Amino acid sequence: MNKIIIKGKNSDSEIFIGNSIDILPEYLPKEKVLVITDDTVGKLYNTFFPEFPTLKINSGEVSKNLSTIEYLVDQMLDIGVDRSWFILGFGGGVVCDIVGFLASIYMRGIPFGFVATTLLAQVDASVGGKNAVNVFGYKNIIGTFNQPKFVVCDPFFLKTLSMDEINCGIAEILKYGLISDSKIFDMLDKNYSEVLNLKTDLIEDLVYRSITIKASIVNQDEEEKNIRKLLNFGHTIAHILEKNQYISHGKAVFTGMKFATELSAQKSYISMEKSKKIVSLLKKYNFLSKYPDKETLISNLSKDKKKDGSNLSFVYIEDIGKAIIKSLTIKELGEDINELLKHSL
Ligand SMILES: NC(=O)c1ccc[n+]([C@@H]2O[C@H](COP(=O)([O-])OP(=O)(O)OC[C@H]3O[C@@H](n4cnc5c(N)ncnc54)[C@H](O)[C@@H]3O)[C@@H](O)[C@H]2O)c1
Repeated sequence: MNKIIIKGKNSDSEIFIGNSIDILPEYLPKEKVLVITDDTVGKLYNTFFPEFPTLKINSGEVSKNLSTIEYLVDQMLDIGVDRSWFILGFGGGVVCDIVGFLASIYMRGIPFGFVATTLLAQVDASVGGKNAVNVFGYKNIIGTFNQPKFVVCDPFFLKTLSMDEINCGIAEILKYGLISDSKIFDMLDKNYSEVLNLKTDLIEDLVYRSITIKASIVNQDEEEKNIRKLLNFGHTIAHILEKNQYISHGKAVFTGMKFATELSAQKSYISMEKSKKIVSLLKKYNFLSKYPDKETLISNLSKDKKKDGSNLSFVYIEDIGKAIIKSLTIKELGEDINELLKHSL
């Protein structure tokens, strides 16, 4: 088992990677703990839940909204949860986002921790202290920065994931490889079937490398004022795809990374040879969608919640393992996108 620490503004976060579920009792208070999970994880893994009151939400993105928060607050008041309690989120990225947000605002904040049960939650959603819920169809539009006290990332829980869920995690792992660690890229390239079959030591290594990169970035820029924006590689376009094509986050991120790579090659930030190598790996995992049309892209970019006036930070790639952030106007980005779409099918 490995441990990585994130030093947050309000609290440190200890992240355990590997065979780590057994350490849970050590890190939980002896009483006044509330477990929050979803239906699927509740059915599959209830024997692993500590013996405390447990609340379940419906599985999936449909639950990531204020109605779920209201439902949970109502239940928590009935149970008598107050600021002396601790909330344990046991589940994927949706449970982590809901619990992180709820714990940050309930009675102005109570401590919380996660057992992350999807690959995506282990390498991304549970780590780094961002949380959010969706409102009026706008994804992650209200949320906070607040670190969980601990995160348990045990590969044991991943064996029951669907292939789509595995691919969603791989999308983020590949993102870390592309922006910061060419070894991750090589591992994903050379061990395609072992990765998809979740070979334990390989997955553990990939999760460890991914969290190491995220932790290092978050330790330098917890509130995404500069370098944390690197983690948005592929995500500017991915968010538009998710909203307009109703595809999974992972498929959208694979497609968004292909788009950003091709845009980087068009602008000569990366060589054509390297760009082709990246696109070929993206295609190998067979989890790509179509690009949206130019009008959809531009109108959605103008509404991007991360834009700053008429400018937007876009993450380009310079090499496998090296990304750069450039600020440009929506008009400039629109012209580049127009050019790219002329040449892609
Ligand atoms: N806060 C952040 O920094 C951050 C980062 C990335 C993604 N996210 C958010 O995370 C969410 C996506 O996360 P996700 O893909 O984990 O989605 P999810 O939590 O909806 O999980 C996907 C599905 O897998 C099921 N599941 C969970 N664990 C399982 C297991 N071990 N075996 C079988 N099934 C299991 C869930 O019940 C659900 O049906 C999105 O809402 C996204 O916005 C947040």
